[in-house]
Amino acid sequence: MGMPELAGKIHDESRQGEAVAAFKHDPTTYKKLFYIESYGCAMNFADTEVVASILNTEGFGATRNVEEADLIFLNTCSIREKAEMTVRKRLTEFKLLKKKKTGMLIGMLGCMAERLKSKLLEEEKLVDMVVGPDAYRSLPALIKEAETGQKAVNVLLSREETYGDIAPIRLDSNGVCAFVSIMRGCNNMCSFCVVPFTRGRERSRDAHSIISEVIELFNTGYREVTLLGQNVDSYYWIDEQKDETVTFAKLLEKVAMVNPLLRVRFSTSHPKDITDEVLFTIARHENICNYIHLPVQSGSTRILQLMNRTYTREWYIGKVNRIREILPDCGLSTDMITGFCTETEEDHQDSYSLMEYCKYDLAYMYYYSERPGTLAEKRYEDDIPEEVKKRRLQEIIALHRIHSLESMQRDVHKTFKVLIEANSKKSETDWHGRTDHNKVVIFPKGDYQLQKGDYVQVKINRCTAGTLLGEIVGNQTA
Ligand code: SAM
Ligand code: SF4
Ligand code: F3S
Repeated sequence: MGMPELAGKIHDESRQGEAVAAFKHDPTTYKKLFYIESYGCAMNFADTEVVASILNTEGFGATRNVEEADLIFLNTCSIREKAEMTVRKRLTEFKLLKKKKTGMLIGMLGCMAERLKSKLLEEEKLVDMVVGPDAYRSLPALIKEAETGQKAVNVLLSREETYGDIAPIRLDSNGVCAFVSIMRGCNNMCSFCVVPFTRGRERSRDAHSIISEVIELFNTGYREVTLLGQNVDSYYWIDEQKDETVTFAKLLEKVAMVNPLLRVRFSTSHPKDITDEVLFTIARHENICNYIHLPVQSGSTRILQLMNRTYTREWYIGKVNRIREILPDCGLSTDMITGFCTETEEDHQDSYSLMEYCKYDLAYMYYYSERPGTLAEKRYEDDIPEEVKKRRLQEIIALHRIHSLESMQRDVHKTFKVLIEANSKKSETDWHGRTDHNKVVIFPKGDYQLQKGDYVQVKINRCTAGTLLGEIVGNQTA
């Protein structure tokens, strides 16, 4: 699977990146310089922008050169064992660097910090600070503690923290697309998943602060926002002043109405919670993208029950049918896990046939990785041999490749409204943009006086497995 760009496709927890603050630093004006790397899901990348803001307010500047940093932070992910191993490897590299530079401090942030707590600080002495996802406001105080050689740990989870009042500093941004966190935590207890333990209880962010952030983004040139939460459909906030209950559908509408020139995306929807009201809201607003990420995890009702997903294969198919009825032109993507505890060949075939039915435009596929402390680890044996898990994964990946190529090919000879995001990586004479369906489009700039953030009509002439290639056929402002 590819490594999606920060502001592009989301949901690939395997991606890693160098998150670099967009603000310039002048070493003479900043107290210290920090370097931060992010791993995991889009929510973690969004958190890194909150962390950068907190540090910047305290007079710290960002650097993309790790060698000149006084503080190194890793914003970490625990979703699969491999994600944690990548971070451990990186920490050992940083430890060597630290030996060369006195006073350098290393901090672990995010889900792995929450899961392992002070283990990497006390037992393995790999880090100087351990800060969980709800404790970023205490970072300045923890830095001070670590500077005096004390153990700096805060892994308290909160029932209220949403960082709603903190204006994130957009990192490595293309200036067009931004993530906006609308909630934190997760109340679902999918048996394979570590997130409820690392991110705590679900809480929704004040709708006013979300709308203010979106307006601010629009006014500074951003043209696409992705509303983020582990389960966006359970967004729920009460506006006490207006005596109004804001559901996800209402929030989506409010965000869409900020400006018709602003594209709105969201992730992730849970099949049990996505409502018709959300689908009708998408249908009503041209600027809410016709694209839904609807993770299924398995096509077998028996496995779904063991996973505690609270829906059956039939329920999921019913949701997909409903999406296609209300939004006939809706892109669909999913997450799928192979080799969950007790999965038989028949269960695997159920996943395979479900994928054949749904023909996803995009799918993120993984083999099951047992996580300590999860319900599955406590209740079930991780009994599928790794080679079987991997073989099944390869089978569904091969099937999905056919579907995604067909999905790309269907778009050839059609014309789409494309939001220009940046120069193409390969050529400065081409633009890189995306369609409403989240597909990347590369096309020559030609003689048009366009800039990033503009919309343009592009006719698709051909495609590769991951990219549409086309030409401009008209300017478009809305
Ligand atoms: N909240 C979203 C949902 O409900 O689907 C996403 C959760 S997680 C951040 C992203 C994906 O990682 C999941 O959808 C699942 O496919 C995968 N995942 C989570 N735990 C896993 C595990 N233990 N082994 C393999 N894949 C896992
Ligand atoms: Fe994990 Fe399930 Fe919550 Fe998604 S909905 S974060 S898979 S527990
Ligand atoms: Fe990973 Fe935490 Fe996200 S475990 S996937 S960074 S919520």
